[in-house]
Amino acid sequence: MPQSYRVAILGATGAVGAELLELLESRQFPLADLKLLASPRSAGRTLPFKGERLPVEQVEERSFENVDIVLASAGGSTSKGWAPKAVAAGAVVIDNSSAFRMNPQVPLVVPEINPEAAAGHQGIIANPNCTTILMSVAVWPLHRVEPVQRIVAATYQSASGAGARAMEEMKEQARAILAGVTPKTEIFPYPLAFNLFPHNTPLNEQGYCEEEMKMVNETRKIFGAPNLRVSATCVRVPVLRAHSEAVNLEFGKPFSPALAREILSQAPGVRVVEDWQANHFPMPAEASGKDEVLVGRIRQDISHPCGLELWLSGDQIRKGAALNAVQIAELLGEKNLLRPAAVAAARS
Ligand code: A2P
Repeated sequence: MPQSYRVAILGATGAVGAELLELLESRQFPLADLKLLASPRSAGRTLPFKGERLPVEQVEERSFENVDIVLASAGGSTSKGWAPKAVAAGAVVIDNSSAFRMNPQVPLVVPEINPEAAAGHQGIIANPNCTTILMSVAVWPLHRVEPVQRIVAATYQSASGAGARAMEEMKEQARAILAGVTPKTEIFPYPLAFNLFPHNTPLNEQGYCEEEMKMVNETRKIFGAPNLRVSATCVRVPVLRAHSEAVNLEFGKPFSPALAREILSQAPGVRVVEDWQANHFPMPAEASGKDEVLVGRIRQDISHPCGLELWLSGDQIRKGAALNAVQIAELLGEKNLLRPAAVAAARS
């Protein structure tokens, strides 16, 4: 019988929390116990799991006693506050927020790319940004064959990236607009229904927003390529779920689309979706609920002899967040990384 683990989900009532519950059930993750944690707003609620309803508890100091793995998806400030406490109580935290991603002590892991990085954890492992995960999973298999020198990406990000309440807000906006009423905005700065706008995270002096810089810095960290040139334009679009990305890659020498297609059709976590005659390529509606990143329109960049163009769609709640986190948890179990020497040393 496989070893089983005591797991807590911090942020269980959110969009990623719901997906974590579904994945722990459908992947038959070996659970000895499952604790659902959220803010005081949700205390007393119950959530469905394996045909039962489990209570949601307000997170507090004692929440992490007797917990092996915390799957955290409750925002950066919540993680900053609670993750160190969970580690002190003996748990390993797989954190979905951006709080620890660029901390050199914290591995940033995509299991298809750098599973070995997880072994160096000191109690916290960071789950990368969703758009970065989706792009990395598609680009890494090519990068391994011929190092990519420059990536230029434009993203088409759905409402779900901003959480469950943002998805509801967009639906309400659509209903309001169709009824001829002015739409309300609370989560988003502008109406998203029937509209789009550049990602509304803070801008730096160079004019890049935080989301764009996550793609730059996190891709470099995951690939172990600190000098990789990356530029991104991130845009929120009126899609409920699943992000899409137009990705331009520049290599040191020509990379044939046929070879790229062959490599990607065998790559873990990727599915090539290309029907050139029917003009059928990855779409968020078809990527929603799927584990794989759908990649298509693989073609030569006509403006550069060493350039390659890709188009991808991926479920950012699933592979971009919850699935990647559960895969990391599975990796910790398989490689016996829940109590490595580094963790013991850090706590002594
Ligand atoms: P709650 O539902 O009680 O507010 P999403 O990203 O879909 O908006 O979900 C965010 C998740 O993070 C929810 O489960 C939310 O719980 C949880 N959360 C937000 N703030 C806190 C907090 N201060 N403490 C614990 N959980 C929080």
